[in-house]
Order: sequence, then C-alpha cells, then structure tokens
Amino acid sequence: MSGKFLLAQISDTHVRADDGGAAVRQLKQALAQARAYQADVILLTGDLVNDERDEEYAALIDAIADPPAPLYVLPGNHDDRARIRARLPGHDYLPREGFLSYVLDQFPVRIVAIDQIVPGETYGVLTEAQAHWLDRALAAEPEKPTLVALHHPPFPTHDLLFDQIGLVDADLFKSVISRHRQVTRVICGHHHRMAVGQVAHAPVIVAPSTSWVYGLALHPGQEIAPITAEQPGWMLHAWTQQGGFASHFMGLSGG
Ligand SMILES: [Fe+2]
Repeated sequence: MSGKFLLAQISDTHVRADDGGAAVRQLKQALAQARAYQADVILLTGDLVNDERDEEYAALIDAIADPPAPLYVLPGNHDDRARIRARLPGHDYLPREGFLSYVLDQFPVRIVAIDQIVPGETYGVLTEAQAHWLDRALAAEPEKPTLVALHHPPFPTHDLLFDQIGLVDADLFKSVISRHRQVTRVICGHHHRMAVGQVAHAPVIVAPSTSWVYGLALHPGQEIAPITAEQPGWMLHAWTQQGGFASHFMGLSGG
C-alpha cells in the first residue's frame, strides 16, 4: 500500500443463468478495472445473484475465482445466506450461522459490514439485535477511521419505489452511527444508481449496479424503476490518513 487505501465496491452484480453471461462479463470488467487501479480490497455489497439459485452462485464463484485483491461479500435481498455459506467455504470471515455481519480489522480503514436482509422480502430491516451488534462492533475501536457497509440505503432517496423497499426503521441505524464519530463513510447498493446521502455525521454513498441502472420515479404517475440507458458501474473509495475518503464512480461499457 502506498499510503492510499483503495476499496473497490462492486454492487448488485445480479449474476443469472439466462442472460448469456452478460452479468458475469460486467462483473469481470469491474474486477479488471479494480486490478488496473491496484485496489487493496474488493467488497461486493449484495445482490450477488439475481434469483438466489445455486447455479447462479456457481457462475458467480467462477467469476470471482481470481480476484485482484482480497474479496469480501455481503448479502442483498436477492441472496440466500445458506447458499452463500455453502458456495464460499473459504470465506471464513463469514459467521457460521445467523447474520452474515463481520468486521475487518486488518486494513488502514476498519470495515464493519452489516447484514440487514429479510429472507423473502425486498426491503431491509436492522433488527434490534443487529443494531446492538453494530453498536458494540463500533465501540470496540473508537479511534480508527471506519467504513460501514450494508445493502439497503439507510436514508430516503425520494424515489417512489425505493423509499418503499429501503431500510425499514432507518432511524435505528442513524442512532447507532451518531454515537460513533469515527465512521467516516457508509456505503450501500440496492438502488441500482449512484446517489449520495447522509446519516448523522457520515456521508453515505450508494453504488450503482454493474448490470443495469434504474431511472427515478419522483412524481406520482411516473414509471416505477424503468431500466435506463445510463452507464452501469462500481465505486472506487480512495482513502488517505490526511485526506480521508474520496469516492469515484467507475463506469462500465455494456450492461
Ligand atoms: Fe439489486
């Protein structure tokens, strides 16, 4: 590491069996770009596959078999915890049971990843138990710069659909983050378009999908979640001790 810490956030890859390999090609393109930029860590923030199917996880595992840097995953609403565990046996940072939440302490920025999916539901929920886990995890290292990752945006984006299927009871998440000033970034996905928000003192970056981009529905009567021709991509979060984080959108061709 050159004094810079580079975290490649790749989200909503939606690997599927019936798209002629398009989602896998997009994912591989993102990984190739992350390699070219010498990313230190790769973090996949959920919706790894499209339909929770085992063959989709098999295709995903194949695509990430030779990552350019240590690669970590979080589940999204299209994922299945049991299949993630079964298909990623070498990912021993993942707890053997329950929520797939974890802490990575070995990097210049501490990474706290929180699983807040609800099996069978599109929205997310931070349970009281997970909020307590997050609070304790953050309290353990109050001085080290910390990034918190989750799948669902923890703030309203004002989109008519995604505000209905976002993180339910986001106030609980906000109350936890507000107690930990060392949280300098929160990152998430789910919305399939890049957005920036705020939770307490922490900026929140919503990564786009590598597969497709949703347009916005801001007014009643507008089409909900239209797939647009906007550019899919991923986020490169660059950090230095002096400068903190800068988050860069990295575009992909195709999609
Ligand atoms: Fe998604």
